Parts: sequence; C-alpha cells; structure tokens
Amino acid sequence: MKDIDLSVDLGRGLVLPNPVMTASGTFGYGEEASEYFDIAELGAVVVKGISAEPRQGNPPPRVVETPSGMLNSIGLQNVGMEAFIAEKMPFLRKRGARVIVNVLGSTVEEYIKVCETLSGVEGISALEINISCPNVKEGGVQFGMKQALAAGLVKALRPVTELHLMVKLSPNCGDIAGVACAVQGAGADSVSLINTITGMEIDIATRKPFLGGLVGGLSGPAVTPVALRMVHEAFKAVKIPVVGIGGISDSATALKFLIAGARAVQVGTATFVDPLAPVRILEGVRKYCMEEGVGVLELSGSLVTDTG
Ligand SMILES: Cc1cc2nc3c(=O)[nH]c(=O)nc-3n(C[C@H](O)[C@H](O)[C@H](O)COP(=O)(O)O)c2cc1C
Repeated sequence: MKDIDLSVDLGRGLVLPNPVMTASGTFGYGEEASEYFDIAELGAVVVKGISAEPRQGNPPPRVVETPSGMLNSIGLQNVGMEAFIAEKMPFLRKRGARVIVNVLGSTVEEYIKVCETLSGVEGISALEINISCPNVKEGGVQFGMKQALAAGLVKALRPVTELHLMVKLSPNCGDIAGVACAVQGAGADSVSLINTITGMEIDIATRKPFLGGLVGGLSGPAVTPVALRMVHEAFKAVKIPVVGIGGISDSATALKFLIAGARAVQVGTATFVDPLAPVRILEGVRKYCMEEGVGVLELSGSLVTDTG
C-alpha cells in the first residue's frame, strides 16, 4: 500500500508532518516520554504551561481518579520561562521535536512578557495561549470566559510575536463559538479545545473533598462527548484551523475529532495510562487514512448530517 501524506498546515508557517500532538501538562517537557519513543515522530510536542516566574502550583493532593476520567488541580506548576529556555529547550532541540509552548499568565503584561521572550528562542514552532486553566485563582480562565477579555489578550499578543498563535479555549465558558470567533477576530491563527471541565470529588468516609484545591479539572474519556460537540461548534463558527482535545486515547476517538472539524488533535490523559498512546494513535490514523484513501484535510470536518 502507498504511504500517505499526513501533513497539516495550521497557518502562519506552522506545518506539521502529521496531526497528532501531545496535550500541555500531560507530557512534561518531553524527557520521560523520549525513553519510550522518538518524540520527533509526533506532529508536535506541546509542553507544560510556562509563566514568567516559576510556580509552585496548588496544595496536594492534586490528582484523583474518577470513574471515567481524572481530576487535577496542579495549578500550573512550572519551572518558569528562563529555566525552560536554559534547561528544557536544549533537549527538545536535540531531539528534533517541533515544540509548541503553552503560555500562561496572571495579567496581560505577564502573557506579553512570556510571548516576547519565547519568540526569540530557536526551535519553538508556535505558542499555545492558555486562557482556560480552571485551577488558579487569577489569570488563566478569567480570560477565556468572556469574549472581550479573550479578544483583548490576543490583540495585545499579536504584535509581540511572529510565531503562530494557537489559543486554547475553556469549555467552562457559556458560548464556545462566540469566544472562538472573538479570538479569530483578534488575530489568533488557530484555536485548540477543550481544556479541562471544572469538577469535584468527595470522600464519603471523611466527607472531605479529595483535592487540596477543592475543585479541579476533569479530563480523560469522560469529557470526549462534550469536547466533540464544542470542536464541531467552533469549526462551524471560525475559518482558522481547530485543534481537538479531550479524552483521546485511541485512534477511533482521534478520527472522530477530525471528522467533527479538527485539523489536528492533542493527546493528554491517555499518556498517563500508556506513554506510547500518541504514537499508537498516530499509527491508527495513518492506517485509516491509507485504507480509506483519504487525506487529513478531506477528513477534517467531513461530518455527515441531515442539516448540513
Ligand atoms: C495533569 C494535567 C495538567 C495540565 N496542565 C495544563 C497546562 O499547563 N496548560 C494547559 O493549557 N492545559 C493543561 N492541561 C489540560 C490538557 O492539556 C487537556 O486540555 C485536557 O486534559 C483534556 O485532554 P485529555 O482528556 O486528553 O487529557 C492539563 C491536564 C492535566 C490532566
């Protein structure tokens, strides 16, 4: 059988050899996974959210398993941008991985500072702007809840970088299509969705919440149907590419996201269960495309509905 071209063009020079990436915060900075496979095989590696200064994150416990997913309240623990550039980027560059850096901030000024600093760093292919973390007191999700705030942030970031700006949307807002349109209008090159959905878990023996942070973000297979619906709504609303995220643990689920309208996908929680999940999913997508004789671009948004 003839091999098939799986490359995807997400705009502003961001061309990936295939549509499968890792999801921020679930793959660290790529070091652990590279013991299992060649991380350059993936479309891109999206690293943990980076802020201007290092962050400690929330009090423990910060992760709890639920019947069909996981709740986390990590609270954006990270090494900070200077340590990321000095200690993490050399490894990623050496491995030849395409790197997308997830950016976070408490204020517009912090987002600007991180984007400006990262823009000059060799080997960074794109910035994913996290306006959707539910686990911090300020910043993050507040920008993702309101169209005007989301658009204001992206408008402020657009002039400070030549890099592709992927904006990561929150499922916890009321109108995903509205926020997607607002960030498109402000200069986003693509949108990625979904981030985690706010949830909680309770221990009936102690009647206490399981998480130190009381509530956390739900991820894994439990969120897939919600994510598929939101990806499709965003796809119908915008012209820029949509990147689908949410409980993708096998190639069938990845294909559903592509059919719903995603041009690429990110694999998150599944890598905790199986570090090889992203490559397994990529192989399954490749096999489907070869057997069906269909390219990713044709597949993307090919959902068949009576309503059109
Ligand atoms: C432990 C953990 C940490 C995460 N950290 C980040 C982060 O730093 N930035 C971000 O945008 N999303 C973060 N996320 C959200 C994931 O990137 C992803 O959007 C979400 O988990 C849904 O995908 P999944 O069901 O495949 O995990 C995190 C998720 C988990 C489980």
